[in-house]
Amino acid sequence: MSTNRQLFLKHLGQTSPSPLLLEIERAEGVFLYGPSGEKYLDLISGVSVSNTGHRHPKVVSAVKEQVDSYMHLMVYGEMIQTPQVKYAGYLAGSLPPSLDCVYFVNSGSEAVEGALKLAKRFTGRSKIVSFENSYHGSTHGALSIQGSEEFRNAFRPMLPDTFRARFNDTSSLKIIDERTACVIIEPVQGEAGIIWPEKGFLEILRQKCSETKSLLVFDEIQTAFGRLGHMFALDRFRVVPDILLLAKALGGGMPLGAFISSGEIMSSLMSKPPLGHITTFGGHPVCCAAGLASMKVLIEENLIGSCTGKSKIFRDMLRHDLISSIRGEGLLLAVQLKKPEYVRYAISKAPDFGLILDYFLFCNDSFRIAPPLTISEEEITLACRQVGALLDDTQKNTPDA
Ligand SMILES: Cc1ncc(COP(=O)(O)O)c(C=O)c1O
Repeated sequence: MSTNRQLFLKHLGQTSPSPLLLEIERAEGVFLYGPSGEKYLDLISGVSVSNTGHRHPKVVSAVKEQVDSYMHLMVYGEMIQTPQVKYAGYLAGSLPPSLDCVYFVNSGSEAVEGALKLAKRFTGRSKIVSFENSYHGSTHGALSIQGSEEFRNAFRPMLPDTFRARFNDTSSLKIIDERTACVIIEPVQGEAGIIWPEKGFLEILRQKCSETKSLLVFDEIQTAFGRLGHMFALDRFRVVPDILLLAKALGGGMPLGAFISSGEIMSSLMSKPPLGHITTFGGHPVCCAAGLASMKVLIEENLIGSCTGKSKIFRDMLRHDLISSIRGEGLLLAVQLKKPEYVRYAISKAPDFGLILDYFLFCNDSFRIAPPLTISEEEITLACRQVGALLDDTQKNTPDA
């Protein structure tokens, strides 16, 4: 009989040449458990998804309660569904007043697609500006604005009229003009390796967008829900976009995305033609119930307030000859090693040390630390001790160490 591993490799579409291939039977808090008693400390959170940990009891009970009432009823936007209404209201109440109208979708890429369409409809323009080394998703529109020529080139032709500026280079913002529908940016670049905006950069970008009447879109798909020690990165940087994109932790472990704007901007999808954006499953009631419960947990358990202190423990304890720098704030950190070969070896060996680590798409000399925000001080101590042992092993076993 085939093993799960064989079935996985045969019947699931593969895109990675070297998948982790860990079999997981159960997950709880910050730990994943394998079928033979393996235990892994999750330092990734499924790439910034499980901010309140795996199977938080309040999220699990919200899911169960909703399943007992109803699951899918109708395509998005036709019926009044309490979980959607409650979650949209709660998000609006946590955001600046101009971001009070939520369109729920299923994923981050879909939120990006919706935002690009919305910006084109609202402004009547087609030009889209994004940034080098940005990542916004894998669908065609999202790929067209992605900041990696290598990824884009393989799938040409792409969406026309898209241009790239350089992150933290204000001189490159001159590409934004009266033809620009929107400028889309990750306030902190994730897959580029946690690249922080220099002081004033986002403010200057905001000003340039306002001057040219281009919409500013913040892709907060990785940075929201407490990761940076604030509910949203826009709270950290005090810059308000015209459209905000959320996904990943938005669903508390369930698939959910959203693009959020003012009611005035959003109304451009209502006419000429009506139904300007349609989704069957977007805003699924079970996902909205889970997401709302998870967002409330962030506040009730002071997970945002404690994030900065936890980050400091990581920074203080992660010391090793192979580490050249640690970038980031809160629980979104990039640990840079002296050579990319060290990173490759360490990530592949991490499970042997009871750890889940991961790469960045566009930064091969660093690995990420983005654990559930529920991680305790003891668990951080354990994680840092194991990372230290892993790096000792890396030093010993990489050929040129
Ligand atoms: C910043 C950013 N935007 C968009 C996406 C795409 O989200 P999804 O994978 O849910 O389509 C990601 C996913 O990693 C992301 O990090």
